[in-house]
Amino acid sequence: MRAIVTGTAGFIGSHLAEALVQHGWQVVGIDCFTPFYERARKVQNLRQLQSQAAFSLVECDLVDAPWADLLPGVQVVFHQAAQAGTRSSWGAQFADHLHHNLLATQSLLEGCRHVAQPPRIVYASSSSVYGDAETLPTPETTPPRPVSPYGITKLSAEQLGFVYHRSFGVPVTALRYFTVYGPRQRPDMAFHRFLKALSRGETIDVYGDGAQSRDFTFISDIVTANLQAAVAPGAVGEALNISGGTQVSLYEVLAMMEEVSHRRFERRQLPAQPGDARHTGADISKASRILGYRPAVGLTEGLTTMWDWSEAWER
Ligand SMILES: NC(=O)c1ccc[n+]([C@@H]2O[C@H](COP(=O)([O-])OP(=O)(O)OC[C@H]3O[C@@H](n4cnc5c(N)ncnc54)[C@H](O)[C@@H]3O)[C@@H](O)[C@H]2O)c1
Repeated sequence: MRAIVTGTAGFIGSHLAEALVQHGWQVVGIDCFTPFYERARKVQNLRQLQSQAAFSLVECDLVDAPWADLLPGVQVVFHQAAQAGTRSSWGAQFADHLHHNLLATQSLLEGCRHVAQPPRIVYASSSSVYGDAETLPTPETTPPRPVSPYGITKLSAEQLGFVYHRSFGVPVTALRYFTVYGPRQRPDMAFHRFLKALSRGETIDVYGDGAQSRDFTFISDIVTANLQAAVAPGAVGEALNISGGTQVSLYEVLAMMEEVSHRRFERRQLPAQPGDARHTGADISKASRILGYRPAVGLTEGLTTMWDWSEAWER
């Protein structure tokens, strides 16, 4: 089996490419090393992969990728590349979100449309498509109402994929990830920042009243869902929630982090940020039915693994 992993140098893409190689796939990773966070971190993410004969890296922007050369013989494209981050999507930076989320996806879809055997595309969508969902836990039938420009671009790219599926038969599945955490998490994300601050004895910024909640997903569960979506017969043309299966408040998470690390937080309370949903919680019954997806890693176990990684990185 041959796969392309876009965004392969990022947090999720690097874990996914490693798992694919371990499962015997030939993997071409594509990444343009956007400057959203430092290149050295992404190079480090690729360290294990670079020594694998089954992995090769193509450094290019998806918008200008040579799809006619890259796609023939590929069965699945795991499309992880994006400009992530809700708070960074307002103002002038929206242009980056449009480029890396929407134009990049359109380029991939056009490429797939023109090969003889279009590969299956497993697209990394996001819980941010829901915004402040009216139903919790949220099923996929809930009308999407993003509260950030980032969420708008993730939803648009998902919809664009389904248009290419209906019009040209490009087989697209969208996995709506709920807040992903684990080793190599992006440095702008809350768990990364909190654990780093615990290591260094620094004060953390807590936005809002701390009662906001998220359904957190450990990275290995995201990888499992992608592997399942690559082959599941009923997954094409569907959007599927993927989460850890439990909704936890920010304050509960901070208490768990203190327990796992045996350290105490110094906190600075700041106002809630525009673009952040108040609560996210997934109904994962559809993914369970279609993919056989069941989250395997609970929050205490996942946080312990991430704390060990964070400590090692800080040393
Ligand atoms: N991390 C989460 O909690 C989370 C939650 C929901 C959805 N997602 C989605 O999962 C995917 C991966 O997220 P992540 O946290 O690993 O982000 P990341 O920033 O670590 O990885 C994304 C990678 O894509 C690359 N990239 C971006 N635009 C590109 C382009 N035009 N051409 C080639 N490469 C490009 C970047 O250089 C980066 O290495 C994204 O699509 C994101 O929207 C992530």
